[in-house]
Amino acid sequence: MRILHVASEIFPLVKTGGLADVVGSLPPALARRGLDVRVLLPGLPEVLDGVVDARLVTRIGPIFGAASVTLCAGRLPDSGLPAYLIDAPFLFRRKGNPYTGPDGHDWDDNHRRFGLLGWTAAHLAAGELDPDWTPDVVHAHDWHAGLTPAYVVQSPGLDMPTVFTVHNLAFRGIFPMDYHADLDLPMRRMTPRGMEFHGKLSFMKAGLVYSNKITTVSPNYAREICTPEFGCGLDGVMRDRAGDLSGILNGVDYAVWNPAEARIAKTYSVDDLAGKKICKRALQLEFGLSSEARGPLFAVVSRLTSQKGMDILLAALPELLQEDAQLIVLGTGDGDLEAGFRYAASVNPERVAVCIGYDESMSHRFMAGADILLVPSRFEPCGLTQLYALRYGTLPLVRRVGGLADTVIDVNEENLAAGRATGFVFGEAARHALGARIRDACGFYRNGGEAWTQVQERGMRQDFSWDDSAANYERLYLGLREQKTEERPE
Ligand code: ADP
Ligand code: GLC
Repeated sequence: MRILHVASEIFPLVKTGGLADVVGSLPPALARRGLDVRVLLPGLPEVLDGVVDARLVTRIGPIFGAASVTLCAGRLPDSGLPAYLIDAPFLFRRKGNPYTGPDGHDWDDNHRRFGLLGWTAAHLAAGELDPDWTPDVVHAHDWHAGLTPAYVVQSPGLDMPTVFTVHNLAFRGIFPMDYHADLDLPMRRMTPRGMEFHGKLSFMKAGLVYSNKITTVSPNYAREICTPEFGCGLDGVMRDRAGDLSGILNGVDYAVWNPAEARIAKTYSVDDLAGKKICKRALQLEFGLSSEARGPLFAVVSRLTSQKGMDILLAALPELLQEDAQLIVLGTGDGDLEAGFRYAASVNPERVAVCIGYDESMSHRFMAGADILLVPSRFEPCGLTQLYALRYGTLPLVRRVGGLADTVIDVNEENLAAGRATGFVFGEAARHALGARIRDACGFYRNGGEAWTQVQERGMRQDFSWDDSAANYERLYLGLREQKTEERPE
C-alpha cells in the first residue's frame, strides 16, 4: 500500500514542535510494517539542504504567485525514506521558521505557501506530477496541509481516499474569504458546509470537511474536540463527523529519546540509574543552581504559551520555592511569559534558571537531569515531552487533559498499591491545584526512596513506541482502500 504524508515540518530537518517529531517518526514506522511511504514537504532551506540524492521530478511552472515551482525528490537523512520537495524559491527559501519571518510575524502569503502544499499533494495523487508513483491514500497533517482533501475532491475523476490528522485544533489556518481566488478554490465551497468559518476561510475546516477520515493524536483529545470547551468553534463539525473521527496516540522514536544513548553527562538505563544523578548535578552546575536543595529539580521543555499553562506555573512558583525545590525552564514563546521566567530566575538565582531559546540537545540534558517534568497544559492534543520524560526516569507532573490524561497514571494510594502509578496528575487549570500537586510531589520525593525509584522504573519500562499506533493507522488506510469512496460534501 502506497501512502503519501503531507506536512510542513519534519525532524531532524525542520522542527518547531511535536508535529515534526511525529512526521519524522510515523512514516518510517509505517515503512517498517512494509508500506510504501513517501513524504511531501515544502522546499524550506533546511529541507533542501538536508535531503540526499535530490533530483528533479517535474517543472510545475509559475503558480500561486511563484515564478518557478518544481517538484524534486530525494531521500530523508536517517530513515532514507523517499521525500518529495516543492522547490518554489520565492515562497519557501526564506529565513525564519516554516510559518513566521525572523521578526516572529506570520508570512503574509501563508495561504499561498500552504495552499501550494495541498495543491501539489492532490496533483501528485492524481498522477499528474510523477508518472512513476501515485499513492493509494493521502495523509495530511494539521491546517498547513488542510487544503489537500479539498483539492482532491475538486480534482475531476480522482477517487483518492484522504486521512486528515489534527495535531492542534487551536491553529485553524484562517484567512480572508476572498483569498480563495488566489488558491484556485471555487466560491461555491466557501459556505458553512464547506470551508467557510465565520465569514473567513479556514484550512483546518477544509481538512475536516473534505477528508474521508479524521484522526487526532490521542483518544481523549478526540472526545474533547467534540465539546465546545475544546472544539475551538469547530466542535459542531467534529460532532457531524464523529463517525469518521478517531484518536490514535502518538508514539516515541526511542532511537532518538533514549538515556542509554543520548548525548548527556552520563548515560543510564532502567537497570542502572546511577548516571541520572550525574546528569542532575551537571545540569545544576551548567545553570549555576545549588546542589544543596532538599526538594526535587523540576524542569519545563516547552513553548512558553497559555496552551502550555505557563502562566499558571509562574503563579504557582512560590509554592515550589517554599518546598526548597528548583526549577529550570527551556523554551520560547510569549514575550511576557519569557520575561516572567527571566525575572523569577533573576531573583532566585540558585533555585530558578531559564534558557530562552530552542535547543534540541539541551532538551535531552533537561530530560535526563530533572527529577520532575512539568506539563500543566490548559489543553494538550497528545504531548510528547511527558512520554520522553517517562523514558528518562523523570516523573511527569501533568494536568488531566488531552493526551496527558491518556499517558500518565497518578501517584495516589490506589495506583501505588496496584503498581501502576507513573507520575503526578492534577485537575483544575488553576494556581492552587498546580501548587498543591507540586507540594505533594515534593513530599513524595523527600519520603520517596524505594517508592520513588519504583515509579521511575515503571515509567522507563513503559512502551510508547510507534508499533501499536502505526498498526492502527495501517488498519485505517486498509479500511479506506477497501471502502468505496463515500459521498463527500459539495
Ligand atoms: P507541541 O508540539 O504542542 O509544542 P509536544 O509535547 O507535542 O508539544 O512537542 C514539543 C516538542 O518540541 C518536543 O520534542 C520538545 O522536546 C520540543 N521542544 C519544545 N520546546 C523546546 C525548546 N525550547 N528547545 C528544544 N526542544 C523543544
Ligand atoms: C501539537 C500538539 C501536541 C502534539 C503534537 C504532535 O503540536 O500541541 O500536543 O503532541 O502536535 O502531534
